[in-house]
Amino acid sequence: MARSPLAPEPAPHETGRSRQRAWVVVDTAAITANAQAIRRLIGPRTQLMAVVKADGYGHGAIAVAQAAQAGGASSFGVATLAEAVELRRAGLMAPVLVLGNLTQVEELRSCLRWNLMPTISSMREALLCQNLAHGTGRRLALQLKLDTGMARLGADWEEGPRLVAALRELDAIELAGVYSHLASADTSPEEDDGLTRLQQQRFEAVLASLRLRGLASGCRHLANSAATLRHRQHHFDLVRVGLALYGHPPANHLAGAVPLRPAMQVLARVTLIRCVAAGVGVSYGHSFRTQRPTRLAVVAIGYADGVPRQLSNRMDVLHRGRRLPQTGAITMDQLVVDATEAPDLEIGSVVTLLGSQGDESITPADWSSRCDTIPWEVLCGFKRRLPRLGSEENREVPSSDGPQDPGETRPGASANSLSGDGARGA
Ligand SMILES: Cc1ncc(COP(=O)(O)O)c(C=O)c1O
Repeated sequence: MARSPLAPEPAPHETGRSRQRAWVVVDTAAITANAQAIRRLIGPRTQLMAVVKADGYGHGAIAVAQAAQAGGASSFGVATLAEAVELRRAGLMAPVLVLGNLTQVEELRSCLRWNLMPTISSMREALLCQNLAHGTGRRLALQLKLDTGMARLGADWEEGPRLVAALRELDAIELAGVYSHLASADTSPEEDDGLTRLQQQRFEAVLASLRLRGLASGCRHLANSAATLRHRQHHFDLVRVGLALYGHPPANHLAGAVPLRPAMQVLARVTLIRCVAAGVGVSYGHSFRTQRPTRLAVVAIGYADGVPRQLSNRMDVLHRGRRLPQTGAITMDQLVVDATEAPDLEIGSVVTLLGSQGDESITPADWSSRCDTIPWEVLCGFKRRLPRLGSEENREVPSSDGPQDPGETRPGASANSLSGDGARGA
């Protein structure tokens, strides 16, 4: 829709790109440090692919990709063509593997145009690639995915050697890699049902058969974050790391395998303080009723921003290193916290939903364990409605941001600190 010539330019706080209401702070230095830590673990002979699909697991794909590259990632994994093209348009020229299946000729043609590697799971896609690249004078690099036990994408692993041989006959494509994906690499040793071992054996059997037949496979890879942290036998030529790159262990028993720093903090402002009597029902359905005279604080973030509604009455927020319980149903754009124990919490104060303050921290795993999901889904749940700010930007205090929490600007203050540890996600 054309903008009316009379419409003024919006001020920063009118665009939703400010720290007016709620926002995500992304510590790109943490991403770089995590990539470096993973690089040290895998050693010089194994490459690191940064998995930056779903807008870099909600952190912002471009910022994450740049930070991961600075930490030693040499390629990127995405799910969709649009995600891949976004990286190229941002000037990122490292190899990009599209992990999802591209089924349309136009999509595969775009891979040739933007120099992206599609994943293929069958001869059908291989022939589409061959036909579109034939006669262009260029070969389309692609990777073959084998299903070794995940039953999602990929050709049956037993078909692997036959498919590789057939692909080698197609002159307009280049087989750049053969890979598979593990279904339960994050299970603890006590719960291990042997599936990871079976998948590993099947993948190795394919590679052995290729070697025997003198068929080159290109880059061989199997490991996600969990397998990368679990054992070096899963590493092969490359590891595809998502969750760990963002600073979260994929399972408790894998925490500590490498030092990881969470890169995301989620912050929101208090927009109203209400003092109510005992016995007052709070929010839709009155699922919480005050037990005492209560100081309620309305916080400007809700499920439309990515805070799961299932966390209603089951989460805390942090203010100045103290936990304040959330009360009543989480609504689309707002939630309410009990600030009776925090008389210093005011309109304009900032609370931390995810992140650390002093000794307290709230992680995606804390949330996911309470609402029967996984940390991956929590991270991807934060919507574009929330601006993504770097740690530096979060330190600035633009005048349009309205009243400031005194704790925010005090150097070294941990609570919501824009200059201290609170802004770094710890
Ligand atoms: C094929 C593939 N490889 C690697 C990853 C990265 O997984 P993780 O975030 O557990 O490291 C994913 C993510 O879902 C994936 O689909």
